[in-house]
Amino acid sequence: MENRQQWGSRYGFILAAVGSAIGLGNIWRFPAVAYENGGGAFFIPYLVALLTAGIPLLIMEFTLGHKYRGSAPLSYFRLHKNAEWLGWWQVFIAFVISTYYAVIIAYALKYSIYGLDLTWGDKPSDFFYGEVLQLSAKPGDIGGIVPGVVIALLIVWVITLLVLYKGIAKGIERFNKIFIPALVIMFSLIVIRALTLDGAGQGLNTFFTPNWSAIGDGKVWVAAYGQIFFSLSIAFAIMITYSSYLPKKSDINNNAFITGFANSGFELLAGIGVFAALGFMAAQQGVPVAEVVKGGIGLAFEVFPAIINEFPGFNAFFGTMFFLTLVFAGMTSLISIVETYVSALQDKFGISRTKAVLMGGGVASLISLLFATNGGLYILDITDYYINNFGIALSGLIEVVLIAWFFKQLKGLQNHANGISDLRTGLWWKACLGVVTPILLGYMMFDAIKQNVSKNYGDYPTDLIVSYGLIVAVGIIVLGFLLSLVKWKSETVAAKKEVS
Ligand code: ALA
Repeated sequence: MENRQQWGSRYGFILAAVGSAIGLGNIWRFPAVAYENGGGAFFIPYLVALLTAGIPLLIMEFTLGHKYRGSAPLSYFRLHKNAEWLGWWQVFIAFVISTYYAVIIAYALKYSIYGLDLTWGDKPSDFFYGEVLQLSAKPGDIGGIVPGVVIALLIVWVITLLVLYKGIAKGIERFNKIFIPALVIMFSLIVIRALTLDGAGQGLNTFFTPNWSAIGDGKVWVAAYGQIFFSLSIAFAIMITYSSYLPKKSDINNNAFITGFANSGFELLAGIGVFAALGFMAAQQGVPVAEVVKGGIGLAFEVFPAIINEFPGFNAFFGTMFFLTLVFAGMTSLISIVETYVSALQDKFGISRTKAVLMGGGVASLISLLFATNGGLYILDITDYYINNFGIALSGLIEVVLIAWFFKQLKGLQNHANGISDLRTGLWWKACLGVVTPILLGYMMFDAIKQNVSKNYGDYPTDLIVSYGLIVAVGIIVLGFLLSLVKWKSETVAAKKEVS
């Protein structure tokens, strides 16, 4: 068997997996998605998605990586000779995400410095769109590169590639051992402060008051699955890659439960903190909380600076700390996203880690410049939407359908995981992956595709939706197929026998 790098300890692996899961998705995505999709009522689809798809898929991906000891394309190839394309598709999803994810971290990095003297002034929205992004007036006008964003972006890429160059135990594991505990401590301080602000209770009421009519809406369920998959880093090659570095004697099931609950716990904490702060801001302005809520990037870079401005004291301290938590959460995830293609390039083409880091990271960082242009934010929004709904969620669906129904591998994978884990899974695991998820998610995917055909996402012009959404989403499936036609080296194929 080929020599594969390994994690230094079980704790190191769990921290790295949790570090990958906890990311920008938990801090800016979850609170807004939950609020837009029925507030308190969103927790039901969210919990169903977590328990019937999130954790079972996480267990399955940990098992795939551990059993077949390869990057996603190699692990799928070893599972079944016709499954490799799925691994490449998922690697390309990760590749696309990395190109814009790095840009959002770059914004956060800039803001952690702006926080020191509240550079954004008393009109944070104008500052963000006007000075920082220099956003073009109309989607489709790409304009030129925005130098301030590019410098921060360069720093993000250099750090990411250096950590990856250092390898699994010395690079990724060490980085997570420092920044995940720091993130949790800093973020907890922010949440405690937010909860003690005037109006916090009103914010929490808004967050937790259920809108029951939302629960029958297919879109709400799609949003819950999309959030769980993105947030748990499943269905885009990450967890397969990370678990391929586990030693032979490792626990699978318990590690997956710990990772899943740690991630959702942090997500809930973020929701509580964000809404407490929104309640405070609404109370200051004498308006209902619903009027100050914003989703996505707007929440972090428009609403938060405004909240920090209103803080009763230590504004600069909390401002800098909030944006640093975004940087830390984002970096530990970005590293895992890029590792998927570093590892796949190494496995497939037999090149050194250094070469794979330089090649993969080099191409990704060049493409990421597209999002650092005047029109970059519009492209980012479209690509992010398509890659989440018709990349991650769709590939997750195809992953379970193929493995459960076509290759009929659930039993074998379950036996492998149960054989080495303290906690054993039973019928629940097979029923969730073999029946519940394909049916529920399959129906929702159908509904989501129907809704997207009848109406363009975000009312963007069709040519932009086609170029930056559709072509990207379909193009990476085609690329996945093409790469799976390239032959493996003979040693890799020989090693297949040892693991199957
Ligand atoms: N799991 C990562 C996040 O939530 C990608 O941002």
